[in-house]
Amino acid sequence: MDFSLRIVERLPRYLQLACHLKETGHDHISSSILSKHFFIDQNNIKKDLSFLNLNGKPNKGYEINEFISAIKMVLGTTTVNRAIVVGAGNLGRAMSNYSNFANYGLKIVALFDDSPEIIGSTVDSFKILPLDNLSEVISKLGVKLAILTVPAKSAAGVAGRLYELGIRYFWNFAPVHLKLPDDAIVKSENLAASYMFLSYQINLNNYRNNGGKIEMVNGDIEKRIYEAFNKYAKSRDNLIPVLQDVQDIRGYISKDDIRKISEYLNIADSKVYGVATFYNQFKLTPPGHFQISVCRGTACHVKGSLNILNAVKEHLKINIGQTTRDKMFSLQEVACLGACSIAPVIMVNDKFYGHLDVAKTLAIIDRLKAEYLETKDKVTAAAAA
Ligand code: FES
Repeated sequence: MDFSLRIVERLPRYLQLACHLKETGHDHISSSILSKHFFIDQNNIKKDLSFLNLNGKPNKGYEINEFISAIKMVLGTTTVNRAIVVGAGNLGRAMSNYSNFANYGLKIVALFDDSPEIIGSTVDSFKILPLDNLSEVISKLGVKLAILTVPAKSAAGVAGRLYELGIRYFWNFAPVHLKLPDDAIVKSENLAASYMFLSYQINLNNYRNNGGKIEMVNGDIEKRIYEAFNKYAKSRDNLIPVLQDVQDIRGYISKDDIRKISEYLNIADSKVYGVATFYNQFKLTPPGHFQISVCRGTACHVKGSLNILNAVKEHLKINIGQTTRDKMFSLQEVACLGACSIAPVIMVNDKFYGHLDVAKTLAIIDRLKAEYLETKDKVTAAAAA
């Protein structure tokens, strides 16, 4: 059961879609549905699934319960993994009490902190334990995984101590890179980087609403990109987070960014380019003033989103991933936008438009263009006055 990391990253997405389809009354799932939903080549999907030893039926696909069980088996969510949370701040407390983890076989058995003020107090069902009890709890309860919600300055020390006590799996929420021996597996979550993505979008929108230019937001982009590099060790394992950070900062990944990333991580340009083009999340051209995202999830597909997508392409004379010559519109297709009840849906920047057809969609685009040009004229006139 030695799957490539790329497949392991995809399987939870397949599983979530299968569970969603099951809940909505479907009894089969096919590689073609998965391909349409995630915009992954169907042959790649078939390759991923070939490792599961499932028997699909022509024109129907895989029986949904078997499909779900097989993926759960591979991901190990059918067995219970015991974990501890270290760091009883707000995040640690929330993690300890998140009951949905049980659905994936994750059982949190203890909550630790090193602050004498809170040790011994109770958080819902957990009594906060001192770090001195780590060894006893880990060995007695067979703990495999540590969830680190400690401040950055303590993370390395705590992780090292846990490693000494036999922990090899770390889910790290501290904003710091953990250096541990090679047999330790660390999955880090960078909440600040995720927030900065949203912060960038807010800023961008503010400037747009003020008739400003994108360049004003991006004044010190290069500096911010180099700062982002420095958060990561020079390891090819960090390629995807680095690409994500660069895109968060610039809004897309330029050719020059690919070169810089290749130099920093010591990976061939072609490899960086290959990864950036493989994942739909990465954009290689600058976004337009209006970024149109046409949902191609299952609910929208059933209600005609392909016709909408084709009509938008033709109307704007661009393809997916491209920007119009006047830099006003860019187009992308995305998986479920989470608004299936108003399918088919498009999103323009951060605004949803639902219950669409081709005519309504094109009217929205024309209206946005007219409003934008009108605002621009006013700004120009005011600047000249
Ligand atoms: S499938 Fe389009 S919003 Fe869900």
